[in-house]
Amino acid sequence: MLQDAYGRPITYLRVSITDRCNLRCVYCMPEEGVPWQSHENILRFEEIVAVVRVMAEQGIRSVRLTGGEPLVRKGVVDLVRMIADIPGIEDVSLTTNGILLEKYAADLAKAGLKRVNVSLDTLQAEKFARITRGGCVEKVWRGIQAAESHGLQPVKINVVVMRSVNDEELLDMARLTQVHPWHIRFIELMPVNNRYFWGPGYPMPDDAYFSIGEMLSVLQPLGLQRIPKSVGSGPAREYCIPGAPGKIGFISPLGEHFCENCNRLRLTADGCLRPCLLSDTEVAVREVLRAGGDILPHIQQAVALKPEGHELALEHLPNRRCMRDIGG
Ligand code: 5AD
Ligand code: SF4
Repeated sequence: MLQDAYGRPITYLRVSITDRCNLRCVYCMPEEGVPWQSHENILRFEEIVAVVRVMAEQGIRSVRLTGGEPLVRKGVVDLVRMIADIPGIEDVSLTTNGILLEKYAADLAKAGLKRVNVSLDTLQAEKFARITRGGCVEKVWRGIQAAESHGLQPVKINVVVMRSVNDEELLDMARLTQVHPWHIRFIELMPVNNRYFWGPGYPMPDDAYFSIGEMLSVLQPLGLQRIPKSVGSGPAREYCIPGAPGKIGFISPLGEHFCENCNRLRLTADGCLRPCLLSDTEVAVREVLRAGGDILPHIQQAVALKPEGHELALEHLPNRRCMRDIGG
């Protein structure tokens, strides 16, 4: 079993399978996009599977595919099947912007995918098109419904809350849980690599930060009840509206209790193991794999390098990679 220096068992791997995306969210990349990684630098499916296989032997039980946008990678359904078939892997999930979800939901479910997290920052069509620079919110909506009808449940919806951008929609978003068994998760904006000008009409990134404390006070009229921490809630603090079928979660990457139950490693699209989202330390495995070497010591090293907690003072931010490289 993999256990880090602070006694935390490592059972969860997040794999970014591409840095590419079919949207251009203002807080994630500039309008003109970014230079993508070259194809040779991106792990091939067999290489990803090789890493997961070794990790599964060491106690990894859950794998989440992320991006960029994982559904833009050709053959993603085959990759899901390959990972779901690895002995020891009990749970394969995916984080997506939802644009291609309607198209792939049925095949993903058949291939062994268990659940999806869909990023959706606004319910308003015009605003969605502006935040994502061209995305169609109806597609995401149909994607969420397709996921649900094919059993990819519970559908979790990630909302990055930003002041003067979508903060006035908190109540509308939260009320979705009264009609649908969805988990709506409000995420504090992380000041990583998005500190450039987002465009006319947007606040400066530092001013867009909206804390969980503020979210809770906006949501006060709903009478939220705290739900005791459950398996699968990850770093979310969970609540529900009394009587509602869905749940409401809050994720504060910079908050106090984010690190203490951390059970994860990340694999970047170009083949680096990343011990912590919020630290630039990485262990490269791609060339070891390609040379036919043993990656287990590198996995163990990555686990050993997991910090006890992040040291996020604003002057100490990771900046070598963007969220879309790491997969959030
Ligand atoms: N802060 C918080 N969340 C972010 N995401 C992307 N960039 C940021 C950021 N700076 C979210 C996406 C998606 C998830 C993978 O990460 O909206 O829901
Ligand atoms: Fe794409 Fe996600 Fe970045 Fe938006 S936040 S541009 S959906 S990778």
